[in-house]
Amino acid sequence: MNFLIKACGIKRSFFSGGKRIEVLKELDLEVYEGEIIAIIGVSGSGKSTLLHILGLMDAPDEGELIFLGLKNPFSLGEKKVASLRNREIGFVFQFPSLLPEFSVLENVLMPTFIGGFKNKEKRATELLKSMGLRESLFNRRSYMLSEGEKQRVVLARALINKPRLVIADEPTASLDEKTAVEIFDLIKNINRFYGQTFIVASHDRTFLSRCDRSFFLHGSKLYET
Ligand SMILES: Nc1ncnc2c1ncn2[C@@H]1O[C@H](COP(=O)(O)OP(=O)(O)OP(=O)(O)O)[C@@H](O)[C@H]1O
Ligand SMILES: [Mg+2]
Repeated sequence: MNFLIKACGIKRSFFSGGKRIEVLKELDLEVYEGEIIAIIGVSGSGKSTLLHILGLMDAPDEGELIFLGLKNPFSLGEKKVASLRNREIGFVFQFPSLLPEFSVLENVLMPTFIGGFKNKEKRATELLKSMGLRESLFNRRSYMLSEGEKQRVVLARALINKPRLVIADEPTASLDEKTAVEIFDLIKNINRFYGQTFIVASHDRTFLSRCDRSFFLHGSKLYET
């Protein structure tokens, strides 16, 4: 099986109040192409820190990261890393982060504008439809949507550039149970139809039963459950 990411001996610590906190230590993880991985762990255990590293948003202090066959992608410099992120990684966060004054469609297209990819309106519309969003909402400013609707738009935006990886940090934490299940089913369907790999931090038990592998982050290390 091909791996998308291989992380070896990852270490990340922060200085806070004059003290050093070791959040991740000797952490190893291999993520295979096409799988859905869940990362669980108590608040403060380092889930977001780990997702930021795997999503090339934050460099580890030590350790080796291989991303899509690229050894230590952070050595490419911020501009190239940003371009790699734009093409290959989609992000979904706990609170749907859309640009409120832009329309739903414009929000979904934003990563294509940044990447310089043209004529993606049709794909954006199709993605929004496949996320179950009503067409009458496509041209509405995004601040007018409900949280569940916003998270569908965020998912469409995460997928617009056909990334190989989607990173989702507690994507359903701000949603009710029924909507959370719908979003998880969408993730499962996207994974099945488009083959995207997902790394999802989540506390949700219904999600854990839907993913391929799950890991418990505890004491700065990961344990497969
Ligand atoms: N930029 C930073 N500067 C200082 N400390 C940080 C920074 N980012 C994270 N931390 C600390 O690292 C630890 C892990 O934080 P992280 O956000 O990764 O946890 P988490 O598992 O995602 O928690 P939650 O479930 O609440 O989202 C916490 O103690 C946090 O305070
Ligand atoms: Mg977090």
